[in-house]
Amino acid sequence: MTADHRPPTAVNIVLVVSGPRSAVFTQEQRMTEPINILVIGRGGREHALAWKLAQSPRAARVWVAPGNGGTAGSGSIANVSLAEDNVAGLIEFARREAVGLTVVGPEAPLAAGVVDAFQAVGLPCFGPSQAAAQLEASKAFAKAFMVRHGIPTGRYAAFSDYQAALAHVPQVDYPVVIKASGLAAGKGVILPDSPAGAETALRQMMAERVFGAAGDEVVIEERLAGPEASVLAFCDGRTIALMPAAQDHKRVFDGDAGPNTGGMGAYAPAPLVTPALLEELRQAVFQPALAGLRAEGKPYTGILYAGLMLTGAGPRVLEFNCRFGDPETQVILPLLASDLVAIFQACLNGTLDQMQISWNTGAAATVVAAAEGYPGDYPKGREISGVAEAEVLPQVLVFQAGTRRSGEGRLVTDGGRVLAVTGLGETLPLAIERAYAGMTRLHFQGMHYRRDIGAKAVIQ
Ligand code: AMP
Ligand code: GLY
Repeated sequence: MTADHRPPTAVNIVLVVSGPRSAVFTQEQRMTEPINILVIGRGGREHALAWKLAQSPRAARVWVAPGNGGTAGSGSIANVSLAEDNVAGLIEFARREAVGLTVVGPEAPLAAGVVDAFQAVGLPCFGPSQAAAQLEASKAFAKAFMVRHGIPTGRYAAFSDYQAALAHVPQVDYPVVIKASGLAAGKGVILPDSPAGAETALRQMMAERVFGAAGDEVVIEERLAGPEASVLAFCDGRTIALMPAAQDHKRVFDGDAGPNTGGMGAYAPAPLVTPALLEELRQAVFQPALAGLRAEGKPYTGILYAGLMLTGAGPRVLEFNCRFGDPETQVILPLLASDLVAIFQACLNGTLDQMQISWNTGAAATVVAAAEGYPGDYPKGREISGVAEAEVLPQVLVFQAGTRRSGEGRLVTDGGRVLAVTGLGETLPLAIERAYAGMTRLHFQGMHYRRDIGAKAVIQ
């Protein structure tokens, strides 16, 4: 990372030190003054981020914008009623409250350039720039990037012209996947059963524009087979620190049946990603990605998430995300032994190579409780009970997502994925058992969740 690309180091910490002593304060001492932190987002991922950040001795207040029922005033964590896309409002708040670190949860504000906007006014903000976030925001960019840099991925072609896309399908001798190139809230991937199904998908995306502008360009990709894994890394532009691999459960019903969701549960570490495979991924995926982005003038600071398929011919990248996963975060962060504020600051300062990041032994599993009808339409406002009863269980954490506090201590549903229960244990079966023990304490009308989270890894 060159000096030009290096974001400013934490501000407003230096200001509290005055008089002759300030001259002898080292950079490290200044960085350890507690700072106010702002987390942007409202899901289970952001609850887990706020929970972990608040444990740091470097954290003073932790605000979540706009947050959810779980981040609304618990300990040092509080919500601020600002939407994720209200960049001017978020900057004004960060200035007013002397926020020394902002952490962006979801992809949309990253793709809209929130990190660039914060850094332009000298506010440290953790996440990739708008240019680097193209890796998630444009699947066509990501695929071309992977080909340019030799990163293993399925064969593909990208099209902005509907007729040209239709003409391509019969020309290839492999089954295809149709992907809207732009951000489509995890719904823009269709796995057709036949060439006719592929044509229908193309018509919906490109002619009927069911995903809006996200489908104006499409990627037609070779359909691959194999188990999937999520591998995430902290990045400071140059250095890569891999996290334990996780496995998400994207389908709504047990046995991977039913439509895709945002993720119904996860566990980590995923045993199918062996230490040798993780090392292979570092060399074949993460290092070329970071070097490639740097060489193309988009140095990558933030979380880089590779969605992988482990095929018979080796790992293939299905997608890159430029942020933490949800619900992967709810299993990865409880395993992190190190200080997350220190890690984010090291990423912003380009000093990740000097950090020792340690992880707890054992495993974590998280199960998502979803609203009736999810991932289709669902009602809101249903009363939730049992959160406190679940939270008192040993090694059980509740991360809220689609929840809202509604006066007189009531907690009600406010989204499709309502909350997640994470269990921790020395072994994965123990972690799973604890997550489900917590889940039995929770109730809201129409609540449903998968009963087989992590089962695949336990049978192996
Ligand atoms: P993506 O958003 O690109 O990760 O795709 C969402 C889901 O679609 C993945 O988790 C896979 O289950 C599936 N998928 C994506 N690309 C492919 C592919 N090339 N072959 C088979 N399945 C895929
Ligand atoms: N769990 C999938 C994602 O966060 O994209």
